[in-house]
Amino acid sequence: METFHLLVRRLFTLFLTIFALIAVIFAGLLMYKPSPSTSVETLVESTEEWRPKDVLAELENMPEDVKYGYELIAESSRMMGPDAEDPGMRFTGNGLACANCHLQAGTQAGSGSWVGVTDRFPQFRGRSNQIGTIQDRINGCMERSMNGRKLPDDIKEMNAIVAYMKWLSTGVPEEKVDEYKGYVSIEIPETAVDLEKGKAVYTKECVLCHGENGQGVRKPDGKGYQYPPLWGADSYNDGAGMHRVITAAEFIKGNMPFGQASWDNPKLSDEEAFHVAGYINSFERPHKENTEKDYPDLKLKPVSTPYGPWADDFPAEQHKYGPFPPIIAYYKAQYGITKNK
Ligand code: HEC
Ligand code: HEC
Repeated sequence: METFHLLVRRLFTLFLTIFALIAVIFAGLLMYKPSPSTSVETLVESTEEWRPKDVLAELENMPEDVKYGYELIAESSRMMGPDAEDPGMRFTGNGLACANCHLQAGTQAGSGSWVGVTDRFPQFRGRSNQIGTIQDRINGCMERSMNGRKLPDDIKEMNAIVAYMKWLSTGVPEEKVDEYKGYVSIEIPETAVDLEKGKAVYTKECVLCHGENGQGVRKPDGKGYQYPPLWGADSYNDGAGMHRVITAAEFIKGNMPFGQASWDNPKLSDEEAFHVAGYINSFERPHKENTEKDYPDLKLKPVSTPYGPWADDFPAEQHKYGPFPPIIAYYKAQYGITKNK
């Protein structure tokens, strides 16, 4: 009897303890509310601190195809260009790397970055007057900026480059998209390019890295460039976007001199960028065939496209060096089109 009572009492105590524990847990769950003020703070903080992916830091953790894409755009000449061991792999035709223009492996704002780029395709393009895919856009740079030939759409290399761009484009906050897209704009000068002024800027701000003759400096292993060439046989061809003075001026304003200028803190004035852009584009470079077929709707051709035909009677010289405001005014008056490049 004694033992029975003891057992009952112990069971009762055990039961009470379990009950109390459950009650405490429930009360805790009921009372817990995330404080609204802290969660808003974390949200604001996380957009302020948002940065594109740190490519080099993640190199060992990224998927294989993404990593291959990175190597192709960073080491283009060695991986898919004139310095490739396998002649079948020589798709690009000059010594440039994609990342020589799309800085920090395509993550630098103000250099036509690829952060968010895959979300913008397919898109309409005036140069072909049709909807183009991201593969078409990449091949635009392959045939012009890289003076090479197209990568087939289904080849491993094309898939890898697209995979890399998609990887860069994941998780970009909506409000950051515009910051990373395209170039900074310039106020287009009223005057034409002055090559003497351009040369003076070049001598002061560019010659140190790109050299007196614009041929840059090769990497120590000779494959690709440490300081890329700005004209001559190993540079972008005359059908490239960088060969348009306004586009080149925008790139230069936001990125050059390298290490000193950035999109939110440029070094050169708009005028200086404009004149030096004209200067580097005044020299010989490879020729792109069939550019007369670009822009089937000629009205959509950027005003600083240096090759004809055009939907206006301004001379070729003026399309190359300006002054551009009269051409811009003409398209506005004649066709109601507002042009900014
Ligand atoms: C000589 C400089 C140069 C090189 C080298 C270059 N590009 Fe470009 N790229 C440009 C210019 C200029 C634009 C157009 C930028 C603009 O008008 O806003 C562009 C645009 C692009 C775009 C579209 C960006 C967007 O926001 O719509 C992609 C994608 C691209 N390039 C991929 C590549 C790839 C891949 C390579 C290497 C195979 C490459 N580029 C090499 C100059 C270059
Ligand atoms: C401190 C060295 C340095 C200076 C000074 C400099 N650049 Fe560059 N430039 C570079 C490097 C490096 C790249 C390639 C960037 C990369 O691969 O990350 C580059 C890329 C370029 C490109 C695109 C790639 C190509 O070859 O077409 C242009 C155009 C350019 N620079 C023009 C200029 C102009 C114009 C100036 C003077 C206003 C200038 N740079 C001053 C180092 C420099």
